[in-house]
Amino acid sequence: MARLITRHHGIAHVSPSMREVAIKPNRKAIDFAHRLMTGHIGAVILLTGVGFRFLLSAVEESIDRQRFLDALSDVPTIVRGPKPAAAMKEVGLTPTHKVPEPNTWRDVLQLIDRELSISNVNVGLQEYGISNTSLIAGLEARGASVEPVRVYGWEFPEDTSLLEANVRALANGERDVLMLTSAHQIVNMFRIAEQLNLTDSLRTGLNSTVIASIGPTTTQMLEECDLVADIEPAHPKMGHLVVEAAKRAPALVKLKKSMRGSIFSMSPHSKIEPRVAHPSEQSIFMRTCRGESTERTPIWLMRQAGRYMEEYRTVRAQQSFLDLCKSPKLCSEVMCTAVDRLGVDAAIIFSDILPILEPLGFELEYVRGDGPVIHNPIRESKDVDRVKDLVDPFSLGFVYDTVRQTRADLPEGIPVIGFSGSPFTLASYAIEGGGSRQYAATKALMYADGGAWSTLMQKLSHAVVVYLNQQIAAGAQVVQLFDSWAGCLSPSDYTTYVLPFMRLIISGITPGVPVINFATGNPELLPLLIGDSRTVVGVDWRIPIDVAWNRIGHQRPVQGNLDPGVLLGSAELIADQTQMVLDAVGGRPGHIFNVGHGVLQQTPVENVIRLVELVKERSVRK
Ligand code: CP3
Repeated sequence: MARLITRHHGIAHVSPSMREVAIKPNRKAIDFAHRLMTGHIGAVILLTGVGFRFLLSAVEESIDRQRFLDALSDVPTIVRGPKPAAAMKEVGLTPTHKVPEPNTWRDVLQLIDRELSISNVNVGLQEYGISNTSLIAGLEARGASVEPVRVYGWEFPEDTSLLEANVRALANGERDVLMLTSAHQIVNMFRIAEQLNLTDSLRTGLNSTVIASIGPTTTQMLEECDLVADIEPAHPKMGHLVVEAAKRAPALVKLKKSMRGSIFSMSPHSKIEPRVAHPSEQSIFMRTCRGESTERTPIWLMRQAGRYMEEYRTVRAQQSFLDLCKSPKLCSEVMCTAVDRLGVDAAIIFSDILPILEPLGFELEYVRGDGPVIHNPIRESKDVDRVKDLVDPFSLGFVYDTVRQTRADLPEGIPVIGFSGSPFTLASYAIEGGGSRQYAATKALMYADGGAWSTLMQKLSHAVVVYLNQQIAAGAQVVQLFDSWAGCLSPSDYTTYVLPFMRLIISGITPGVPVINFATGNPELLPLLIGDSRTVVGVDWRIPIDVAWNRIGHQRPVQGNLDPGVLLGSAELIADQTQMVLDAVGGRPGHIFNVGHGVLQQTPVENVIRLVELVKERSVRK
């Protein structure tokens, strides 16, 4: 194979797709066969047909084929879709369990939940190309111990030196753009990185590299590797990819490079102690965040603790709202009381989106009747220079203490949700000085001075990542981003002025922690909120939830979307509209019930309690 890598002007292009070929000699396959035949493996998952054939040919080299097949027919075999089933049939075997379409890793787990127990079972997993960490984590969460066996990859070029050089350069953050024209290239890139012991550095390096994907299949493989395509042309053609990359890459490169060493030097891997698994990670709320099926629909409500609740008003009467936010014990008390009273399945910490602005240099006050006010808003471009970086992450220590306290006070099975405002909403408060109707000052700055806008958004994005990762380190199981005012933007302006920052934020949040990405006011933005593979999309009430889910794509879980105004209505109206949401979802796994925006102040508490009961009763899956 000639010239497999092109390298121009800092662009890495990692080798074209190549024919599938067995990795030989395959010691792992032989070890696996021995363990199966000696009764150490209690179930086998076959992910691909080609993979099973390669497994068999690798095993046959040193083991009696029939003995291996006999051993395989003695344990449950789970095949992902028709191809591995057909490959088994060729050798006279029938799988005991078939994963139905669309047979993603989530469907594999759902089949297991329905059909067999793998608790304390050693499960053999025939993988293809790269390791599927989500599937392995899901199997382990069900008590299995997983023995992966990787049986084929793609042939490397005869001379891998250029590919190696590119992987090293990517790992060092020395490539501005990575152009991918097939899913196989991603697998090969990670295989080489694995051989060079550079997997972690490659991931870090890719954080500051603009990734351009030719089309949906490549983008999906990126997602499976927890990477995000920054650029994807409307048509999956090389010419379109090049044109689109040439147009969009320069600005994205600048942005990504400037974020480097800020977000990522603060990354959880270096400065924050590692996250410990918590029992609530197996709650129905968390399982739904991972798209898994559950016995019923989980429910919590935005603004579930607030002025509509008498207990809250009593606590609040003793101090200002900001002082309350700075008292972790009281914040925990307020939220735990609400969770207990309402019977919801998750607890958001009690706080607000605006205190983060204080350490950035803004004077914040909550004025009775007027809501939040910033006394020194940004008035012109040069004011952006005075916005501080969140250098000392512990300046918001009271919020992390609130997470710790709430985690300690809540029942073990209830997950804690950390949160932050999204940078656009935070910027609009910082610029307008408070709430706004038309966001004229915000848009004026955004359109007039791209440089100042980008600087402001970068500072805010950096602060948001540090803030959320500290909340996670303090014990939050999941985080939610609130973009309450993003709905004032058109999809094209959101794409240009906001989306690049949202991508950076989501990719900077501690891996494996679900992120609920919520924006209100404009359902046209929904396809732009899909983030990465651990993202859950928050949906407001302005669109039926099934229509929203179609726009988002069913590979993402969703949260929503009863109009909070409905809770001011009669018991009958509440029941009807709740049923409408449940019917629209139709029992599909991956739905978190919530209101489409915060509970209103005038809401009778009994109505909220009734709503929670209704969802719990009516969403039970038989
Ligand atoms: O959901 C919860 O129960 C947790 C606590 C929470 C609050 N604010 C408490 C609060 C959360 C998650 C928020 C988020 C928040 N705050 C958002 C995003 C969600 C949304 O509603 O769009 C926004 C835009 C804010 C900003 C904010 N804080 C406003 C506009 C106001 C005043 C008006 C209002 O709706 O109350 C606040 C104050 C605030 N935040 C109160 C509470 C309980 C009321 C304060 C008081 O007691 O006077």
